[in-house]
Amino acid sequence: MIRSLVIGSGAYLPETVLTNTELSRRVDTSDEWIRERTGIRERRVVRDGEMTSHLAVQAARAALADAALDAGEIDLVVVATTTPDETFPATATTVQARLGMSRGAAFDVQAVCSGFIYGLAVADNFIKAGQARTVLLIGAETMSRLMDWTDRTTCVLFGDGAGAFVLQAGEGHGTNADRGVLNTKLFSDGRLHDLLYVDGGPSSTRTTGYLRMQGKEVFRHAVTNIAAAIEASLAEAGLTIADIDWFIPHQANQRILDGTARRLGIPPERVVSTVAVHGNTSSASVPLALATALADGRVKPGDLVLLEAMGGGFTWGAALLRW
Ligand SMILES: CC(C)(COP(=O)(O)OP(=O)(O)OC[C@H]1O[C@@H](n2cnc3c(N)ncnc32)[C@H](O)[C@@H]1OP(=O)(O)O)[C@@H](O)C(=O)NCCC(=O)NCCS
Repeated sequence: MIRSLVIGSGAYLPETVLTNTELSRRVDTSDEWIRERTGIRERRVVRDGEMTSHLAVQAARAALADAALDAGEIDLVVVATTTPDETFPATATTVQARLGMSRGAAFDVQAVCSGFIYGLAVADNFIKAGQARTVLLIGAETMSRLMDWTDRTTCVLFGDGAGAFVLQAGEGHGTNADRGVLNTKLFSDGRLHDLLYVDGGPSSTRTTGYLRMQGKEVFRHAVTNIAAAIEASLAEAGLTIADIDWFIPHQANQRILDGTARRLGIPPERVVSTVAVHGNTSSASVPLALATALADGRVKPGDLVLLEAMGGGFTWGAALLRW
């Protein structure tokens, strides 16, 4: 059977570091409060004029170099983002042009913090259906643009960044020993809109709006939903937690990571956490965390990797892949 193999990956962070201490000069907060409640120490933010597409292109170039592939060989560009450069066109088409591509298709996927998992499902299904052989999947965000910088309950949580995969069709035997994407599981529940949303948009206010969140409620749903998605993914594959080499969660809050790991019995040393230095980078967080674990040699070829995320909508999901 056809499998979607990750043949290259890359990541990019904007240069500007914003520490908790710097934030405590803008709003009534403290380094101690933020660390204790979230595990976040610092995050990266874009400078004036730096856009989501800029971060996306940098991550894409790194992934293409890792795959030793020219952009001209890409059939499909999928950008998962909730902070597009413009309302239209899709940031993916801007990225396509900047990479010098003159063929293929490009579109954005909007699933907020679950965007990379949703994008991975889209890429995997295009490949398995034979409609694309090589897909560039990018999660890229400038969440700092959606922050109400006077709201201490949200502005301390998010950061900017981008991560990318190059996926390509390869042959598999249809077993869990195959390399590549083994499965993806997606879920959403639109009734939970009010817990996490942006209070603006082209057809409502004609403005961009700011991120609004009921933090405690989001927290409560997060652990339950994420655990259910992981259980669904493992059950479909006929695997258990004991089979997983690396758990690469969406980096929203260290307490959510710990809670999920505890609930599922995942040993803490198997959990990749970068929330301390990235904050919540929405759709970029999973590939950014994976890039860290690849760079320091934790994730190796053949390892079984479990990805998960949850975000506004709500949307949530999990993906199982053999690196
Ligand atoms: C946001 C979050 C860190 C808040 O932690 P919490 O323990 O639930 O804290 P609460 O919301 O109950 O707030 C407790 C107090 O801290 C205050 N507070 C909130 N943000 C603060 C900040 N940055 N600094 C200092 N105090 C803060 C609150 O105003 C509240 O004060 P009060 O008791 O006087 O009303 C936590 O709920 C969370 O992480 N939720 C999930 C958010 C998330 O991951 N969203 C993205 C999903 S993709």
